[in-house]
Amino acid sequence: MHITHISFECYPIAKAGGLADVVGALPKYQQNLDHTVEAIVPYYSNSFTDDAELEIIHKGSIRFGNEDKEYEVRKVVTPDLGFTVFLIYIEHLLDRKEIYDHPDNEERFLSFQLAAIHWMNTLEQLPDVVHCHDHHTGLIPFMMQYAFDYHRLNRVPSIFTIHNAQYQGQIPYDKLHYLPDFDKNHIGLLDWGNLINPLATGIKCAWRVTTVSPSYMEELQEQASGLEGLLRHEKAKCFGVLNGIDTETWNPETDPMLLKNFKVSNVVSGRKEHKNWLCTEFNLDKDLPLFSFIGRLVGEKGADLLPSIIRDTLKHMDVNILILGSGHDEVEYQLNALKEEFVGRYNAYIGYSEKLSHIIYAGTDFLLMPSRVEPCGLNQMYALRYGAIPIVRRTGGLKDTVIDIGEDGFGICHNQAIVWDVCYSIERGAKLYKDQERYRDIQKRIMKIDHSWTQSATEYMTIYKTLITQK
Ligand code: ADP
Ligand code: GLC
Repeated sequence: MHITHISFECYPIAKAGGLADVVGALPKYQQNLDHTVEAIVPYYSNSFTDDAELEIIHKGSIRFGNEDKEYEVRKVVTPDLGFTVFLIYIEHLLDRKEIYDHPDNEERFLSFQLAAIHWMNTLEQLPDVVHCHDHHTGLIPFMMQYAFDYHRLNRVPSIFTIHNAQYQGQIPYDKLHYLPDFDKNHIGLLDWGNLINPLATGIKCAWRVTTVSPSYMEELQEQASGLEGLLRHEKAKCFGVLNGIDTETWNPETDPMLLKNFKVSNVVSGRKEHKNWLCTEFNLDKDLPLFSFIGRLVGEKGADLLPSIIRDTLKHMDVNILILGSGHDEVEYQLNALKEEFVGRYNAYIGYSEKLSHIIYAGTDFLLMPSRVEPCGLNQMYALRYGAIPIVRRTGGLKDTVIDIGEDGFGICHNQAIVWDVCYSIERGAKLYKDQERYRDIQKRIMKIDHSWTQSATEYMTIYKTLITQK
């Protein structure tokens, strides 16, 4: 089968969060199942494109509002990513360093989708399935069905994966003229609440809709930032497929970002080296358990709770807390301010560091995820693979991947995203840490759990196959 993924992020080309990890891994696992798999991603001016060998394989032009815009398709020749990647280059508009931090994002998302579909339409051999990810690609299933110039694509099944329903990419109608000419009888498919809503359009028009965990799909029927009614209406074509992780990239035995590689048999010494490094680097106490948080500092992750969690915990308990993240200014400010209050037991790195994140997974004793909403969450799976015990709120993918130690499981779970619940979970973690025999036993168990993409890649293949028979 020939599968084309379309996404605004893809690791290691450009990453802001889990979307990149998924699109950098799922195609690889599908390719390993003997399919022809490729991803279409924007061209960014960053260290990846600086170092990569690229080949221009197509030059074209799209009508973009009142002007024509040239675009190029550049194929990644090296490094070998395990599947084929095509980068859409549009001078000035897409070729920037930052992925999202731009005032003209609407034009960027639109131009990317227009160039991607324009190019696909020129191909002699069309893909068997087009798999779009998140709102930045949500208009593609619509254009494939109803844009006059692309009617060739209307028999190609499309599948749309919602990684996060909070971000819908709404566009005002005065930008409607950017879209190619389409059958106006279907203009309602673009609409949600008097705006063009690419996430809603993707849900309405794709042949199948998936979310990144079964529990999140259930939750979306009740709360989907205004789209819950639509999701209930489209329920028959919606499925939850749990994300996996790339166990080649995320492998403590081979991970080049670690200070020392380790496996289950030498986990204690391997992890100790990373914890000691973190404690020295961040002035923490290496004899106390270390609780860390890695992630975007936004409400969905419960990041606004962190300052109170840190204060309440460190006032009453002897533990370390370390934060790696960036996001809301106010949360960043408070997390920085707390450094002076708890010198020696708390620290934070406000920013983004891929390398530091790997070292934290390898050195922290516990990983905190007090998320209010978590469509899947990959951090808890990375933590498990590297032998750190996750402390999670039972929601979305966290509910589907972590079982509490009280239920014969391997993590610590709480029901609410409130300070008190998280502090109590930290207390339970500290108690578990004191029982080193039990802690080590759990650590060895979690490192052996298989969270690779193997099973979910097959689940996606099954969905694609049913679509192809419907063509
Ligand atoms: P989301 O996509 O909602 O941010 P996920 O759990 O799916 O959450 O994925 C987050 C990914 O981004 C993980 O690979 C995590 O390690 C990484 N990450 C998040 N924040 C940072 C940061 N500040 N520095 C390095 N990596 C980060
Ligand atoms: C989104 C979600 C996160 C999920 C990721 C990858 O960013 O917030 O929970 O793991 O997408 O699917």
